[in-house]
Amino acid sequence: MYQLHVKEAADHIQNQLQVEPTVGLILGSGLGVLAEEIENPMTIAYGDIPHFPESTVSGHKGQLVIGELEGRQVIAMQGRFHYYEGYDMQQVTFPVLVMKELGVETLFVTNAAGGVNESFEPGNLMIITDHINNMGDSPLIGPNDDKLGARFPDMSEAYDRDLITHAKNSAERLNLKVQQGVYVGNTGPAYETGAEVRMIRTLGGDAVGMSTVPEVMVANHAGMRVLGISCISNMAAGILDQPLTHDEVIETTTQVREDFLGFVKELLKTLPA
Ligand code: HPA
Repeated sequence: MYQLHVKEAADHIQNQLQVEPTVGLILGSGLGVLAEEIENPMTIAYGDIPHFPESTVSGHKGQLVIGELEGRQVIAMQGRFHYYEGYDMQQVTFPVLVMKELGVETLFVTNAAGGVNESFEPGNLMIITDHINNMGDSPLIGPNDDKLGARFPDMSEAYDRDLITHAKNSAERLNLKVQQGVYVGNTGPAYETGAEVRMIRTLGGDAVGMSTVPEVMVANHAGMRVLGISCISNMAAGILDQPLTHDEVIETTTQVREDFLGFVKELLKTLPA
């Protein structure tokens, strides 16, 4: 049933395409502007795709943008589905399987995240080197599709090492200072307490957010290579002396827009095969 839904959604999209996208982009809060750079864009609203959930958060648009960026055929999600919106893990990760079905082999996953590592500053970009699933759930629970991936998939290199190296080299070429670190996925929607931020730091987390982990798990299970980029939109609430708001998150991601756009474009332009 689920595989059939993936196939129907992919067919609906494929019927409207001339070329096959090879790189998938999941654009996080405030980062959807990247999709505006896509050339000869073809947009498909989530609501028009069979079986696709619809996005509910402000700052997230809710459409696929397919076209060319820096010479690559890309398919971008302008807005993603979050667990905290009430979707189950299968719904949150449904688009990843649709991308896989469309032929996407490389997935760039982006997000806005709170800085936990005290050497970080709001506005930094962080290459995700690894993650901790702190959501208390997994999109891989349930019957396994053996044609897609293993029952007990390896997650020791959830973020592709070559892509991490490529990202570091790309940042260097641009003279862009980027951080790297471990992303901790919480369910949200509440931001963290001070005690939770201290716990996350003790556990080895450098940044915290409410997304990414489910999509990355499903992509790995399906054999896609993944690159993750966080935009550190704020320092995690517990280590601030003032309350954190969603507006602040969107404001910072807007400020680093140029860095973010330049970085992703360079990543695509020089992407190794
Ligand atoms: N915590 C969790 N998720 C977030 C944050 C944060 O501080 N900032 C942006 N997304």
